Amino acid sequence: MLASLRFAPGPRMSAVRTAVVTGAARGIGAGIAAKFARSGWHVVLADLSPEVVETASAIAAETGAATTGVVSDVSSPDGAAAILAAVTEIGDFRALVNNAGITRDAMIKKMTPEAFTATNRVNLGGPIRLNAALAEHLADGGTIVNISSKSSQGNVGQFNYALSKAGLLGYTRALAIELAPRIRVNAISPGFIATEMTDAIPDELRNNILARIPLARPGQPSEIADVALWLCSEASSYVTGQVLGVCGGRTYAP
Ligand SMILES: NC(=O)c1ccc[n+]([C@@H]2O[C@H](COP(=O)([O-])OP(=O)(O)OC[C@H]3O[C@@H](n4cnc5c(N)ncnc54)[C@H](O)[C@@H]3O)[C@@H](O)[C@H]2O)c1
Repeated sequence: MLASLRFAPGPRMSAVRTAVVTGAARGIGAGIAAKFARSGWHVVLADLSPEVVETASAIAAETGAATTGVVSDVSSPDGAAAILAAVTEIGDFRALVNNAGITRDAMIKKMTPEAFTATNRVNLGGPIRLNAALAEHLADGGTIVNISSKSSQGNVGQFNYALSKAGLLGYTRALAIELAPRIRVNAISPGFIATEMTDAIPDELRNNILARIPLARPGQPSEIADVALWLCSEASSYVTGQVLGVCGGRTYAP
């Protein structure tokens, strides 16, 4: 896919730290991008969807921070190259949040090869490709955050997704050791978060999940963003190779 690069309006702030957030056109990624922008970061929002350019502009208008929208597929070489071009142009690259992800749910007997391959290509292949292309360009002390899922522990109708997100955890731990001490690498494992991805869940299943959350409500993208921002800050300077469950206490419940 040919990726295009666009710059949203906003002041250029060359002394400002730069963060890349993938899958940032909407949902959790947009929440993370907005939180980083409010904290003064220049955020590069990357997404397959051209809507990312409008999201980047809206965040720039709301926060006064500089943002850059990059239309790119994180699972393609061109996508990685477009994101690298953006951070090279902006400079002071300090954080990469691998958030882009997809679901292609089906029970095992009905799982198509396409659904199996697509989830792994994006959810696991995307972070692997981007980290390989971008990690060496992170400044010393930079951080990587991979967004996994509570479903990495297993979920009905999601063996492809569970596999990709569980793989991301092993990959996170291995990469943390490999990139230490220069770069810290951690993962967040969100539970049920209110986004378009979970809007697609049928009502009966949704109510069933909600009943099993100790904090008795869905999480918000901003609550994942708070943890991502912490993991990319000095406040977490001795934390690497870890997985943080942000799931309203549902860690050990099915
Ligand atoms: N919503 C939840 O409850 C929940 C729970 C656990 C984990 N997660 C994970 O959090 C992340 C964000 O989830 P969400 O709920 O915001 O999803 P979402 O579907 O609302 O948004 C995902 C974004 O990723 C983008 N995207 C998809 N494929 C891409 C690709 N190849 N390249 C670039 N961008 C791509 C989409 O265009 C979309 O904007 C995903 O990795 C998801 O697996 C979500």
